[in-house]
Amino acid sequence: MAIREVLKMGDPRLLAPARPVEDFASLDLAQLIVDMHDTMRALNGAGLAAPQIGVGLQVVIFEVNANPRYPDVDQVPFTVLVNPVLTPLSDVMEEGWEGCLSVPGMRGLVPRHAALRYQGFDAAGQPIDRSVSGFHARVVQHEVDHLHGILYPMRIRDLRYFGFTDTLFPGQNLQDD
Ligand code: NI
Repeated sequence: MAIREVLKMGDPRLLAPARPVEDFASLDLAQLIVDMHDTMRALNGAGLAAPQIGVGLQVVIFEVNANPRYPDVDQVPFTVLVNPVLTPLSDVMEEGWEGCLSVPGMRGLVPRHAALRYQGFDAAGQPIDRSVSGFHARVVQHEVDHLHGILYPMRIRDLRYFGFTDTLFPGQNLQDD
């Protein structure tokens, strides 16, 4: 187990497209997923993409637990998603606040597809195929963007809605995710 350093915005590795995983049986993949899990948990994040720890592979993880501080946010089961493909299920876009472990201490208002289907593989190479909406859909879009070298500030439509978390939401003690 290892908690890895999370790269911050400005590092060119966060802008590079990630390669598909080809060998699901490799020890390297298993170790990568353990390290990503440990790092996400240690930093209290909602998701993490492999490029954020400097590994250019198409692997993301995410999880949203019930939290009394965010009663409106849906729970998302812990998911390892490899080689993901997203298909929007409608043209409806929703604006919502996002943070990112690679952009610590900040929040921005980001448009995302309200509903989408995601397909890919779990850590063992078994297919995943889910249709989701709301916060679950948002988290998946945020994480998969990392695999295409996109950080959420690049999607903000009005930069007046981008700022420091403790100034935007004083007293709420929000985590980076
Ligand atoms: Ni992120």
